[in-house]
Amino acid sequence: MQKKWIVANWKMNGNLKLVQDYLETFKDTQLPHQLIVCPPSPYLCSFKNQNDFLLGGQDCHEYNSGAFTGNVSAPMLKELHCTYVLLGHSERRMYEKESSELVYQKAQAAQSAGLTPIICMGENEHDYAHGKTEEILAKFLETLQSLDRSNLMIAYEPLWAVGSGRIPDLEVINAVHQYIHTILPGIDVLYGGSVNKDNIQSILNLPYVQGVLVGGACLDAISFHNMCSL
Ligand code: 13P
Repeated sequence: MQKKWIVANWKMNGNLKLVQDYLETFKDTQLPHQLIVCPPSPYLCSFKNQNDFLLGGQDCHEYNSGAFTGNVSAPMLKELHCTYVLLGHSERRMYEKESSELVYQKAQAAQSAGLTPIICMGENEHDYAHGKTEEILAKFLETLQSLDRSNLMIAYEPLWAVGSGRIPDLEVINAVHQYIHTILPGIDVLYGGSVNKDNIQSILNLPYVQGVLVGGACLDAISFHNMCSL
């Protein structure tokens, strides 16, 4: 199989022990795919420059610095050896009320700092059931047209698949990815939402899918390592 991306999104989970488990478990292993690990910001410092995987942030602010208590900027992530940053995750759009305009501004800040934004988007269950996925995605994608496409990734994460144990049919995942490619050609598109050891291989095998974004299943280093090695 062609080498694809596996992105581990710890969300607000983990601790120093999980950092240690990752460092030990993924040391000197040759994975068939390229791994990007996105821990919570306070743990980024615990990862060294020389890991056997790449590092990503889970979010960044749209400004590089300033009086924005509690936020993290793109240049800070870059300084801590991140090369990627997740943006517009459905949990941030939902709980932090992030708009597509704000996600666009954050993506600009990320690209200016030399990070590759991985911009998440997806439809809710009602829209999925009514066949509106492409319509919903088209609206998200339109807001990204003026970003630098040589430095951008998209993650298709149906809201109803995140943490639910359910995924769309494989043909649907492939078709949605193909659709995203027609709107933003040349960009790597990942699938996220309930990826686990039983479905990762069949999802990574889909021709239009360049990788996966994993939540819950990345929180145990050993079983995640096994999953990445399949
Ligand atoms: P789960 O893998 O837990 O469904 O989470 C997916 C996700 O939101 C990754 O960003």
